[in-house]
Amino acid sequence: KRHLISAADLTRDDALLVLDTAEEMARVADRPIKKLPTLRGRTVVNLFFEDSTRTRISFEAAAKRLSADVINFSAKGSSVSKGESLKDTALTLEAMGADAVVIRHHSSGAPHRLATSGWINASVVNAGDGTHEHPTQALLDALTMRRHLSGVGRDLEGRRITIVGDVLHSRVARSNVLLLTTLGAEVTLVAPPTLLPIGVEQWPCKVSYDLDAVLAKSDAVMMLRVQRERMNAAFFPTEREYARRYGLDGLRMAALPEHAIVMHPGPMNRGMEITAEVADSPRCTAVEQVANGVSTRMAVLYLLLGGSEPAITGTRTDSA
Ligand code: CP
Repeated sequence: KRHLISAADLTRDDALLVLDTAEEMARVADRPIKKLPTLRGRTVVNLFFEDSTRTRISFEAAAKRLSADVINFSAKGSSVSKGESLKDTALTLEAMGADAVVIRHHSSGAPHRLATSGWINASVVNAGDGTHEHPTQALLDALTMRRHLSGVGRDLEGRRITIVGDVLHSRVARSNVLLLTTLGAEVTLVAPPTLLPIGVEQWPCKVSYDLDAVLAKSDAVMMLRVQRERMNAAFFPTEREYARRYGLDGLRMAALPEHAIVMHPGPMNRGMEITAEVADSPRCTAVEQVANGVSTRMAVLYLLLGGSEPAITGTRTDSA
């Protein structure tokens, strides 16, 4: 495959190949020299039209650990603020010889447009587009679940994952529903009716409005950020009301099975969807998810760009 635009692009075998490769890449972090020569001479451009901390830094770290040259582009401070189009920005990147373009954009569909436009020859990786998708987040989340849930095999067959909160604006939720169901998990979305997208009944998951009813049956509960910046105030209950009905606090965490984990993609609104007590508890994997993001993104770049060297000496990983 040349691009990663949607979690729906991945078959079960594709997803397992990324996760298994990410496990190999994670072993690099344990070595004294953390770098691999696999993408030497290749150029990865991080093209960010929207703010990011975790995704941007981890793609940069991932590309550098594979010895790629990295160009970081942020729309703020660029000629985009003078009105330059996506097409002209893309042609500029093409002139610089980009092999992969990692794009985050406020418009849903921008990565797809870039991948199919013919403006560039590079592989395109969606790093989050509007309210549409964030496939590498779903992959790193699956890696985190696979590591934690005891007895889990290569996939997540039969695992019960609850995703809670602002599903309407969440590209993380959409990509997770698609990937988790591909991997055999059973997903339940929990949200106020006003924060569910139209057509959610066609998604391959269950929907509930009652968080307390599903906690005891969850192997992982993923709290979503309430995206006030994308929200019409009329759709939103008061912060206090939201936290009371849909927030995860210590009392609710105690209702989870002993083995269950609490996840959050970040950034967190502490005190809104998750209390500080839960965010800082050993059951919360938010920081570990960030670390898993580096190895997952190393795997994605390696597989898309088809590194010419074995991923790790002594272990051959075929490109997807
Ligand atoms: N989870 C995530 O995408 O975080 P950033 O917005 O900081 O990249």
